[in-house]
Parts: sequence; structure tokens; C-alpha cells
Amino acid sequence: MAVLTLKQINKYFGKDSARVHVLKDLDFSVDKGKLVLVLGPSGSGKSTFLTIAGGLQTPDKGSISINGQDMLKLTPKQRDNLRLNKIGFVLQNYSLVPYLTAMEQFQLVDRIKKEGNISSDALTQLLQQLDIYELKNKYPDQLSGGQRQRLAIARALYTQPEVVLADEPTAALDSERVKEVGKLLADLAHQGNKAIVIVTHDSRLQDFADDIYHLNDGVLEKG
Ligand SMILES: Nc1ncnc2c1ncn2[C@@H]1O[C@H](COP(=O)(O)OP(=O)(O)OP(=O)(O)O)[C@@H](O)[C@H]1O
Ligand SMILES: [Mg+2]
Repeated sequence: MAVLTLKQINKYFGKDSARVHVLKDLDFSVDKGKLVLVLGPSGSGKSTFLTIAGGLQTPDKGSISINGQDMLKLTPKQRDNLRLNKIGFVLQNYSLVPYLTAMEQFQLVDRIKKEGNISSDALTQLLQQLDIYELKNKYPDQLSGGQRQRLAIARALYTQPEVVLADEPTAALDSERVKEVGKLLADLAHQGNKAIVIVTHDSRLQDFADDIYHLNDGVLEKG
């Protein structure tokens, strides 16, 4: 069953002669239990697509639904709640809080979302799987790009979201780590029954995907 559906999404940036058509009649859906990869070059609209899919920005035309609920018809507060409870984001800039240690990033989430997060044992296991447990008392600027990236992945999974939206989650990782993270996310989709959408230009992730789409100049095509 489709958990996230986008229909006829169009997005423009800029005005008049500077107006750019960034997403063009884009249709997309993802089922529970699937890992979907959206591959596209820089500037093709990947981040715009992902942030629209997660309700972080709104399209100029089209609809987005999560579990059949029309996201654009919700009030801003309802949309915030839906995002908090159902969606885990790994954003392109990681969006870690600079003055909090790795462990405190999770404690901050606990203050915002008080229930339904993974247990502290499961968090330990997740951090160990991502090989960042030993770094739990370090601040983001004491971590390498790849370590920050893995911390951002752990934080997205911490709330046990139904949908995980990840923007270039492996760009800073070496090939071995790409395999580990790819397998972790594929297992999570298949065994945890989550819908995982990754936008990237990292074709190393192709082996782990159930479906592959290509985004070129704002046009999305399957296969
Ligand atoms: N807020 C904005 N205002 C104006 N133009 C924007 C804005 N956000 C994105 N764009 C433009 O939309 C196009 C798509 O940008 P987007 O960030 O979605 O691409 P991307 O595929 O994620 O690229 P990258 O791989 O470099 O992250 C680009 O031409 C970009 O300049
Ligand atoms: Mg981007």
C-alpha cells in the first residue's frame, strides 16, 4: 500500500524572466517495506522534491498524501505533527545542533517527541551498527563528514518514522560504509516495513533499491 503519494507536482522558483520550472508534473508513490532511490544530477530538483514530499515546502500545483491524508489540506500545526510522528528526515546539511553532543541530539528529540522513540538499548545498538557509538559525547564539529552523516541517519531513525526521506545520505561515505548504510536502510525497509526514499547522485546505492527513478531537469521517470 502506498504510504506516500505525490500527484502532478509542479514547483517554480523566481519571478518573471528569472522564473525556473524546477519540478514538472511529477508523480511518485512509495509503498511500505520499500527502499526507493531517486537518482539525478546536481540541480535536477532532488532536494526540492524531497522537501515537498515531506511537507517542508509547498508545491505551486499538485497534491501530497500520507496514508491517504492530504497534506496540503492540514493546518500548519497538523502538518508539523504529521511530520514529527511519521517522517524521519536526513537533510543534505545534516541539520545537527552544533552545541549538543551526539547523544544530546537524541535527548533533544525526546523533548519534542516524548513517545514512540526507540529504547536506549536500541539506540546503543543503532549507533554501534553505524560505528559511531564511541563518539556519543562529541560535538558535531568534532566529527568527520561521514560520522556526521551517520549521526544524522541515526537521528532520523530514532523516532521510528513510517517514512524516511534522505537527501544524499551517503555523499561523504567511503564505499565500504555505503554498503553498510545501504544494507541498514534496506533491512529497515524490508524488516521494519518502512518506506524509505533516498535522493542522491550516488549510484553506489543502486544495489540496495527496490525501485529506481531518475530525475532530470525536474522530470521524474521510473526505471
Ligand atoms: N529556494 C530557492 N530559490 C530559488 N531557486 C531555487 C531554490 N531552491 C532550489 N532552487 C533551484 O532549483 C533547482 C533545483 O534545486 P535542488 O536543490 O532541488 O537540486 P538538487 O538536485 O538537490 O541539487 P544538488 O544535487 O546540488 O543538491 C536549482 O536550479 C536551484 O538553483
Ligand atoms: Mg540537493
